[in-house]
Parts: sequence; C-alpha cells; structure tokens
Amino acid sequence: MSATLESVTAYAPAASAREKSPAVSDLRILPQSGWTGAEIQGADLSRPLPPAHFKAIKEALLRWKVVFFRNQNLDHAGQIAFGRQFGPVTPGHPYEGDVAPAGFPEIHTVSPDAYAKRYGPNYQKQVGANGPGWHADVTPLINPPAYSILRAEAVPPYGGDTQFTNVAAAYAGLAEPIRKFIDGLRAEHRFGASVGAERSREKIGDLVRSNPLASIHPVVRVHPETGEKVLYVNPSFTKQIVGVSARESRHLLDLLFEQAVIPEYTARFRWEPGSVAFWDNRAALHLAPRDFAHVEGDRILHRITLEGDVPVGPDGKPSESIEGAAFKGA
Ligand code: SIN
Repeated sequence: MSATLESVTAYAPAASAREKSPAVSDLRILPQSGWTGAEIQGADLSRPLPPAHFKAIKEALLRWKVVFFRNQNLDHAGQIAFGRQFGPVTPGHPYEGDVAPAGFPEIHTVSPDAYAKRYGPNYQKQVGANGPGWHADVTPLINPPAYSILRAEAVPPYGGDTQFTNVAAAYAGLAEPIRKFIDGLRAEHRFGASVGAERSREKIGDLVRSNPLASIHPVVRVHPETGEKVLYVNPSFTKQIVGVSARESRHLLDLLFEQAVIPEYTARFRWEPGSVAFWDNRAALHLAPRDFAHVEGDRILHRITLEGDVPVGPDGKPSESIEGAAFKGA
C-alpha cells in the first residue's frame, strides 16, 4: 500500500460519519520523510475548517511534527483566523516592537529586512541574514509557543528551504542508558546567549538587557498531547545544563544537539508563494536557511505563534522562569 493510501485510510472515519461529512476523504496526507513532515492536500485554509479537516490536520501534525500546505490564499488576517482555530494567537514575538505590519501585532515577518529592523543591521551579519540556527521558537520563555504557522509571500527561485527535525524520534533513537540519564537533567535557555547578544551594542543588546528572557526547562519534555518524550534542547537558545560543570555541559549538549539533527530525523521544505508550514515547537526543531543571500529575488514569509504551556519533565516537574513573563495569546 502506498504511503498516500495508508495515510488517507488512517485518518478516514467510519462509513456512517463519512456520509455525513463528505469532505473527509478529499484530504490527502503525504509523508515527506520517514519521521518528519507531511504535505496535506485538499484543505482550504482561508475558510473555517470542517471538523473532520481540523481533526485530520491536528492528527497529522502530532504524528509528523510539521505539516505543509501549498497554494493557499491567505493574507495576515486569514493566517491569524486559521491559527485561532488551533489555539490563542500570541503577539508576533516578545521583541517584535514596531516591526509587525500595521494593525497585525500577531504577525512576525521573516525576511532579512525585518531581522535588520528588529535586531540591528550588524547583528544580522553575525547570526546569518535570516535568523539563528536550529531551534524551536522562543524557548527562553517559560511557556514557549506550542505551534508556529509560517506563510510564504515571496521566495527566491532556488535556495531558502527550511529544514525540520523530529526531536521525539531523536530522543527515541538514543541508547537506553543515555535516555535514562538525560531524563533527570534540566537546562537554562536564554535569548541571545548563543551569539553573545547581551554584550551587543546593537538593538538586540538593548532588547535582551532591558527585557531578558530565560527559563530552566527539562532536557527531556513530556509532550502534553501525545505523551511522547522529546529532546528539548536546541543550539540557538540552550545555554547550559544546570548542576554540572561548564565542560560537562558543553560535551553533553554537543551530543544532544548532534543527535537532534541527524539527517534521518529531518525533512526539507521547498517554499513557493502561498506555501504554509505548520509545526509543533514541542516536538520539532527548525533551521532557517542561509543559502539565499546571493540569489536574486526576495524571501519574505510571515509567522504566527500559538500560545504554549509550561514544559514538564518525566519527573512531573515543570519548568521555572528565571527572567521574563509568560507569553499569552488571544
Ligand atoms: C523561523 O525561524 O521561524 C523562520 C524559518 C525560515 O525562515 O525558514
């Protein structure tokens, strides 16, 4: 049986329900790699989702960690309305300031120009023209966003793909003694730590000094919806493992960062205008591209994030805030 048929069958309801809701069988869920990512065909994100589509999208998201849609006709308001069906939509970013498009504080535009406005033009040269390395969105918050929805307005003819990795699969792929060992660890996540932003004389320095964001999260998080254990560290925001020496922390984090992005756990998404990626920040990391600065053509995308909960470790203990308020949506 092909992957397509298997997926459609997996999400199809019983015959009686199907008769009442004929839209169900027109959703096609196409896995994009062994662990990560599924393209969903047949959904129109510009209208309220029929319950069966909502359910199928949610199930695919929880299983594949990121889902992709093509040829969607969304503007800022439509993207926010789509997101609200899955949870409260937060402001664009804790450091969004006045960079959000007028009237849409929920929209976080992703483009070299937007990053330069948000953080300063030289900071951009240090981290890459388009944001940081592998990460889940804003993990220094006490309640990092549960989901992100990114929509492409303009993309270059080649280059600019986004990569995703499944950190539930990455955790499961570790040897049992390592899993047991890291189940009890905690780590500090701090905004800007990986690029020395606290010492920067640019706008990013003012932002992180005046409104620092830092939390202690479990290194292994229990996913609140699937119950899976996920590797909850990332090289952009995780500063150090707590309760061990700096050297021990560095070696442990190197092992875990490397594990998280082993190619077999990843998928790569090629954008087109109108494409949408919808990912679960509690079970996936993503990597913004750095291969398009020399390519003719703009790359402009718009992201929203959905309010998240406070992570909990396998011991049942929640994260603790060091600095910064909870990030709430509406
Ligand atoms: C992001 O980190 O949300 C942006 C990803 C991208 O630019 O592809």
